[in-house]
Amino acid sequence: MNPVGLARRFFASLFASWPSPDERAWVASILTPPEFELWSAQPRYDLRHTLGVARRAEALLGAAAEPRWLAAALLHDVGKVRAHLGIFGRVTATLLMIGIGRARVASWHSWSGIRGRFGRYAVHGPAGADLIQQAGGRNEVATWADAHHRVRRGQALSLPGIPQSVAIALREADRD
Ligand SMILES: [Fe+2]
Ligand SMILES: [Fe+2]
Repeated sequence: MNPVGLARRFFASLFASWPSPDERAWVASILTPPEFELWSAQPRYDLRHTLGVARRAEALLGAAAEPRWLAAALLHDVGKVRAHLGIFGRVTATLLMIGIGRARVASWHSWSGIRGRFGRYAVHGPAGADLIQQAGGRNEVATWADAHHRVRRGQALSLPGIPQSVAIALREADRD
């Protein structure tokens, strides 16, 4: 991510508003009850981010915007809760991933202390898949959480249960 993108995300996080009752009702119409519980447990800035991603995915998918794909958009970053990082910690983790590579930061995921938290932030994809599966969420939703940082923008990746056109739209909708 470029410095402008990072700064924009930082300020968007600081000023993110809580979802309105209408937005919550929309999410509840898409997610199963255990998925909704997982989604709701995220911090304010992740709720705002994932709502934006789901709306953009809905627009990009058009007639193909099935609830399970919007559910995948809503829960793709849910694994971030396991890192227990606030906004400043996330900025630091992102800078580290840019500086030394996501794989190296990810290798710290089982460490204790702050390096472990950065490591768990770097593996939030697979961590989210784990949370979704444990909660009894849909397989495609867990598959997308696991894969969303392995798919490069505009590139196809074959994922079980997810058509390539859907994966491309979901990736495009996520401005991470
Ligand atoms: Fe992510
Ligand atoms: Fe995201």
